[in-house]
Amino acid sequence: MEGILFPRGVVEGLEGLDAYRSRGGYDAVSRLGEFSPQDIIATVEASGLRGRGGAGFPTGRKLALTLECPETPHYVVMNGGEDEPGSHKDRVLMENLPHLLLDGIILAAYAVQAEKAYLYINHNYEAATGAVETALREAREAGYWGEDIAGSGFSLELVMVAAPSNYVAGEDTAALEVIEGKEPLPRQKPPFPVTEGLFGKPSLVNNVETLANIAPIVARGAEWFRSFGTAESPGTMIFSLGDEMERPGVYELPLGTPLRHLLEECGGGLKGGKPIKAILPGGPSSGFLLPDNLDLPLDHDALREAGSSIGCGVVKVLTEGDSVLDELMRIADFFAKESCGQCPACRMETNMLVALLKKVQQGEGNDALTEQFGKVIAFNKGKGFCSLINMPGPPIESAVRLFPEEFRGA
Ligand SMILES: Cc1cc2nc3c(=O)[nH]c(=O)nc-3n(C[C@H](O)[C@H](O)[C@H](O)COP(=O)(O)O)c2cc1C
Repeated sequence: MEGILFPRGVVEGLEGLDAYRSRGGYDAVSRLGEFSPQDIIATVEASGLRGRGGAGFPTGRKLALTLECPETPHYVVMNGGEDEPGSHKDRVLMENLPHLLLDGIILAAYAVQAEKAYLYINHNYEAATGAVETALREAREAGYWGEDIAGSGFSLELVMVAAPSNYVAGEDTAALEVIEGKEPLPRQKPPFPVTEGLFGKPSLVNNVETLANIAPIVARGAEWFRSFGTAESPGTMIFSLGDEMERPGVYELPLGTPLRHLLEECGGGLKGGKPIKAILPGGPSSGFLLPDNLDLPLDHDALREAGSSIGCGVVKVLTEGDSVLDELMRIADFFAKESCGQCPACRMETNMLVALLKKVQQGEGNDALTEQFGKVIAFNKGKGFCSLINMPGPPIESAVRLFPEEFRGA
């Protein structure tokens, strides 16, 4: 089979059903009866695909855990909540390549033997919602979902659900609550959604970008997927660059590509050719890197070893002259506002970090105050239902290490 399913290349507008099919789209779905659920899971496991929603959990393992749960029915949820500041990749995928997503969702649903899949999409994403709606209609008319898909005996219903636009609504169990008609409040884990998810039943929750990788992997094989990226982080990932760059936008690159390539070749460097002061390579919950880290490969392990993380690929760059402290204040404020408030430790921690940063901003910084950050973060670590409580820590602790002068009093 020729035709490029992946990497996605330059995205040029909405891809309709015919264009998608002409490059091999829905190939596996049209022959669904030739595959067993275990065949699909084995291929995804061999591919080494890791979740693109931030945590990097092995996708094949999640599929296997869901399939093996005896409770029925099973469900699939596409997580398109995307409220991380600066992240656009899921919107771009939904707006432009909705059939690539549906293809992956149908294969994932078959793999876990789900009878219903929910497409949970940020309610501000009007164009994305429209593109997915159209694709759903086209795919149904073509017989790719509904009753007895391609004569396989497998039937699937696909339903769209609007996601509220607050950050925590993208957390997987909060998304399940919303789909059940409740407030977006994370659940205590365990149990994890794979065993007790939607309506208490085994559920596979995956990020939009993760699901966009499934169909090409099934159609082209694990080895092909592994020809991109590194051994531990195979495939490509979509990175989002912000307005501080000459060429902001989303860029799909093989994992392991040097950070320098993303910032200089793709992003064209900082606007006006300004020098870089610091980089947050994985969004507001990642640790800061310095300009001498520019040759680091963008993959899960390399960034973790450098004291940071890849998150969902939002790369933010600070210019010489920018205040790291001001950036930390924006980040801490964000997490304090977005904390849903149901876990006292999260409420307390996020507000306390804002209060401490305010003191530093007012010139009251000293060694004792700086030490407080580490203490507050360590005390609260893991004490929430979801991992929002762990998110403000890495940028603050890395800044204390790399920019100690910004924490000293006037
Ligand atoms: C506060 C918070 C917000 C999150 N927001 C999103 C989101 O908008 N989209 C997403 O895919 N994952 C989000 N996640 C991660 C999900 O909980 C979950 O790990 C992810 O959907 C799993 O998909 P994956 O395995 O394909 O990465 C969020 C997590 C937390 C703690």
